[in-house]
Amino acid sequence: MFDFNRYSQVAGKLEVDDLDIASAFREKPLDEDVLRCVRYMHDVEHHTTCYLRNLLNTKAHHDPEITDFLTIWNYEEHWHGEALGQVLRAHGEPAGATRVAAMRERLGWKLTGSPLPWLALSSVTRHFLAVHMVFGTINEWTTQGGYARVVTLADHPTLGELLRRIMKQEGRHIDYYRTKSVELLEGDRAAQKTVRRFLKVLWSPVGTKVMPTDETRHLVQTLFGGPEGTVISDRVDRRIDALPGLEGLGLMHGAVAKYAA
Ligand SMILES: [Fe+2]
Ligand SMILES: [Fe+2]
Repeated sequence: MFDFNRYSQVAGKLEVDDLDIASAFREKPLDEDVLRCVRYMHDVEHHTTCYLRNLLNTKAHHDPEITDFLTIWNYEEHWHGEALGQVLRAHGEPAGATRVAAMRERLGWKLTGSPLPWLALSSVTRHFLAVHMVFGTINEWTTQGGYARVVTLADHPTLGELLRRIMKQEGRHIDYYRTKSVELLEGDRAAQKTVRRFLKVLWSPVGTKVMPTDETRHLVQTLFGGPEGTVISDRVDRRIDALPGLEGLGLMHGAVAKYAA
């Protein structure tokens, strides 16, 4: 059982002020492969607020507990982006509003496009909340798994500490989305069938729709491909299999195969 009151008490800005980020990376900079993943993660964390804008056009905004959660969740994701931004700045790279503005410029109409598709998706099925919660669960699982993989790949004490703090908060996001997913899927064959259909047609790794394809390919290959990455992606698939009625989708397996090609 997810204790929302407790979550709202412990949630908040990610604390990294005690980490001497600037000098840690001056002494031991990240290699280009890891830095490229950090750029992707920075951009996607900061994009959460645009995703929230779309979600608030759906049935999600009818439910006060969901909107309370989304408000806090968005705030926490913002500070994940800011913390990763400090890592980029320590490497002499732009971050925060400068990078985000460039990303929104690049997205153009894709960013400012109509909220109508979201309204339509939400009204086309009475199981939209189940769809939303399951997508949220899977995206948080893959994000947390991706961070865990970066910790290993980078083998950098300061980055490791920063990412472990982020992962702890992602863990609470997982708890919320997963609890709601199980609640909405359990014993409801119609909800399970709808969610399966939406996942098969619409799911792709976090950030795919807003990041350049080359960047998604690099991230998926680096973090979820190869023998060690496969351990993470297989684990996500097994967790999806364990959700009521969602066994056998092989979403991560499919994504890795697609982006490794
Ligand atoms: Fe995050
Ligand atoms: Fe999260």
